Amino acid sequence: MGAEPYYGPDFGLLRTRDPEIAQVLIDELDRIRGGIQLIASENLTSPAVMAALGSTLTNKYAEGYPGRRYYGGCEVVDRAERLAIDRARELFGAEHANVQPHSGASANLAAYAALLQPGDTMLAMALSHGGHLTHGSKVNFSGRWFDVVSYGVRRDTELIDLEEVRDLALRHRPKLIVCGATAYPRLIDHEVFRCIADEVGAWLLVDAAHPIGLMAGGAIPSAVPYADVVTFTTHKTLRGPRGGAILCTGELAGRIDRAVFPFVQGGPLMHAVAAKAVAFGEAMRPEFADYARRVIVNARALAEALAAEGMRPVSGGTDTHLALIDLRGLGVSGAEAERRCAAAGITLNRNAVPYDPEPPAVTSGIRVGTPCVTTQGMGPQELAEVGALVARAVRRPEAVEEVRERVSALLAIHQPYLSEY
Ligand SMILES: Cc1ncc(COP(=O)(O)O)c(C=O)c1O
Repeated sequence: MGAEPYYGPDFGLLRTRDPEIAQVLIDELDRIRGGIQLIASENLTSPAVMAALGSTLTNKYAEGYPGRRYYGGCEVVDRAERLAIDRARELFGAEHANVQPHSGASANLAAYAALLQPGDTMLAMALSHGGHLTHGSKVNFSGRWFDVVSYGVRRDTELIDLEEVRDLALRHRPKLIVCGATAYPRLIDHEVFRCIADEVGAWLLVDAAHPIGLMAGGAIPSAVPYADVVTFTTHKTLRGPRGGAILCTGELAGRIDRAVFPFVQGGPLMHAVAAKAVAFGEAMRPEFADYARRVIVNARALAEALAAEGMRPVSGGTDTHLALIDLRGLGVSGAEAERRCAAAGITLNRNAVPYDPEPPAVTSGIRVGTPCVTTQGMGPQELAEVGALVARAVRRPEAVEEVRERVSALLAIHQPYLSEY
């Protein structure tokens, strides 16, 4: 051992040993530095989180839970997992936390495994109205293994139809009700969902994969007081490593833990668990509360700017980090808008709007979100400009160079991984 302690990543070694992959890393950094990232489910995690991800903890097998492992030598990684669990519980005021799910989908699979048997009925939001694949889509295990009843949004308000939710719950008596979405810009009324679940004797699972960082920062109400189980991802608004986690009541702690391991997963990814602990720690800082608040202010500024250009925000606006934009008034498909924006240096994704006449590969909408640009330090003024640039890129593809120049000017001031975390 030399004087300098060894921590992990050695980019110089990667460059000599595997120049092709080293180049991929460089090109990806260039890509995110060279464009505006409006993908609502992405963020730019901190170098501290990445240090934990790139550490020797990736080597350790640790099946089981802290103090109850099926492998020797776990006393060090136990500390990482205990810190992650304690911080998650404190951050969200939860009775129990499981930080091992490899992803949001794995967290949902484990939560269903804890609460349901194959063939049981669950009630969840339709994918075509903003729900997630794991909420009962036929192409996913959830739609194959459970009897899924779906609810959606009203045609007039484009808000979740809570009367329909209650009617369906009373008619089908689901064992589990799921709320939470992947493309729903408004707050979800967890209290009403709790009442409906209680009325029919169902468990309530809130899939907070998207807004969990806003809840952590206190910018929107938390789902924890209302849900039996909250599943979430750590890499979206929470700005941590790619991964999932589960919060639940003390009553369900044993069932959730046994469902994650050994039912759904094998050994946990201890480098990711340590990185989740770092992210939870970061989310406890006052700066993160400010970040979460600014994400929403920015999303509103973006949605308003787009609306002013004739790009209609579904439900009239947003309460969260994302907006869903209906392009039918412009006569441009979601797929085409995604392509035009990409050509202008703006990354976003096509997305179905409620009651969309177009197939999922085409769609009539786009989804935009502000977690990344807020991390880069942009504020509502910049987001108003970003909105105008998106509109210009979509409506006037011939102006692509002009938009690119403005994008570059914004990025020169707000470069990813140069500003402070
Ligand atoms: C609501 C919701 N649940 C679950 C997931 C799945 O997360 P992952 O991609 O980490 O499996 C997502 C991801 O977009 C999501 O939006």
